[in-house]
Parts: sequence; structure tokens; C-alpha cells
Amino acid sequence: MTTTRPTVKRRRLWFLEFYRSAVGKKWVMAVTGIILIGYLLAHMVGNLKMYLGPESINAYGESLRDLGGHLVPRTHLLWIMRIGLVAATALHLHAAITLTFLNWRSRPARYDERHYAAANYASRTMIYGGVIVAAFVVFHLMDLTWGSGGAEFARGLPYENIVHSFERLPVALFYIVANLLLGVHLYHGAWSMFQSIGLNHPRFNQWRRWFAYGIAAVITIGNVSFPIAVQAGIVHLG
Ligand code: HEM
Repeated sequence: MTTTRPTVKRRRLWFLEFYRSAVGKKWVMAVTGIILIGYLLAHMVGNLKMYLGPESINAYGESLRDLGGHLVPRTHLLWIMRIGLVAATALHLHAAITLTFLNWRSRPARYDERHYAAANYASRTMIYGGVIVAAFVVFHLMDLTWGSGGAEFARGLPYENIVHSFERLPVALFYIVANLLLGVHLYHGAWSMFQSIGLNHPRFNQWRRWFAYGIAAVITIGNVSFPIAVQAGIVHLG
């Protein structure tokens, strides 16, 4: 006589179960995308202070480290924000990669190639753009946070560090190209995140489009202006 073992169904936490589905991954991409857009907007606005001179942006960097004043130990709030940013970035990347695999697997074998190419143009642009932006972020951290990007660097003096870095033409060009690609990525992302969370009524499409254009344009124009301003001598040392 053969005995059959009772099948034990493993129960996962509801959010892990939800994340396994394409809809769940899209939600995670949208929510983490909003966090990342918020960071980019704040980062760009903060960097605009370089137009007010070294004291202004250097004091801004200092006040970020001092967030929370006497209520929390120095740099603790900044570290909490950094951890949140890293977590949002990691989840955004993980959801993007696993969603791509899921799409590949569910693609019908005899699907019209041209149709496929058209339907997936935006998502493929997002992946290539995303990879280049990720490479840019690694270089950017080496360059302006860790000081290992090859330019003269002094901790706590972002104004001087930015000028030293962007005075190098190839670096300025790299920043410009990467930020333009980031702009395209932001446009597609801001446009599709509403679709991802089910807010895609045709009545709102015009509004969605302007929102996506607006957010991408503001962040991109601000970011691209910095290397141009240093190269043009508008932002300079001494
Ligand atoms: C030309 C545009 C940009 C300029 C001038 C700029 C400038 C800076 C500077 C000066 C720092 C160091 C701050 C400090 O430690 O005092 C920094 C940090 C950082 N930047 Fe940018 N940035 C630019 C664009 C970007 C973009 C497009 C991204 C992301 C896609 C980004 C992500 C970061 C991150 C994650 C940090 C580390 C923040 C931290 O350590 O708390 N930046 N940036």
C-alpha cells in the first residue's frame, strides 16, 4: 500500500504573493518611481543653490546632515532617507528586471515581430535608459560623494567639487547625455505609472501627458544646466 503525503500549501505573506504577479510588480515600480522622482526633484532644486554661490549650496549640504536639529543625532535622519532611497532603487530595479522576464515568458511564440516591436518600444527604451542611468549614478557617487572620480575633492564642499568635476569637458558631456536619457526615462515612467495603478481613463490622458512632460522637463533642464553653467564659466571658483 502506498501512502500519499498530504500536500502542504505554503502560505506567503499577502504582499509577497501580490508582488509575484505582474500587477503587483507594476505597483511597486509606480510607488518606488514616485519616491525616486520626488528625490530627483528635491535634489535638482537643492543644486540650484549653486547659482547663489558657494556659501549657499555648501550650507544646504550642511543642513541636510543636520536635519532634525537637536531632536536627533547628527546625520541620522539623512541616513534614514539614504536607506529609503537605496531600498526604493533596489525594488524599482528588481521589479523592472523580473517584470521583463515575466513579459518574455508570456509572449506568444508566433507573435507578429513588428507588432511586438511597436508595443514594446517604450518598455525596451526604459530598460536601456535605466541601465545607462544606473551606470551614471555609480559614477556620480564616486565623483561627488566618495571623491574617487578623478577630480580634486574636499568633503563637505559640494560647490568646489562640482566645479572641479564639471570643468572636465568629457565629464560635463557625460552628465548632459545621461541626464537627457534620464529625462526620456522620467517621461515614459511618469506617463506609464498611472496606467500601472489603473488610472488610465481617456479623459485624464491629456492631463497625464502634460504631467509627464512637465516633471521630466523641469528635472532635466535643471540638471543639464549645471554642467553647461560650469563649462560656460557662469559657475566658477574664486
Ligand atoms: C547635474 C546634475 C547633478 C548635480 C550637480 C548633482 C550634485 C550632487 C552632489 C554635489 C552630491 C553630493 C552631496 C554631498 O555629499 O554633499 C550628490 C549626491 C547624490 N546625487 Fe546628485 N547631482 C546631480 C544629478 C543627480 C542625478 C540625476 C541623480 C540620480 C539619478 C543623483 C543622485 C545622487 C545621489 C543618490 C547622491 C547621494 C546622496 C547622499 O549621499 O545622501 N544626482 N549629487
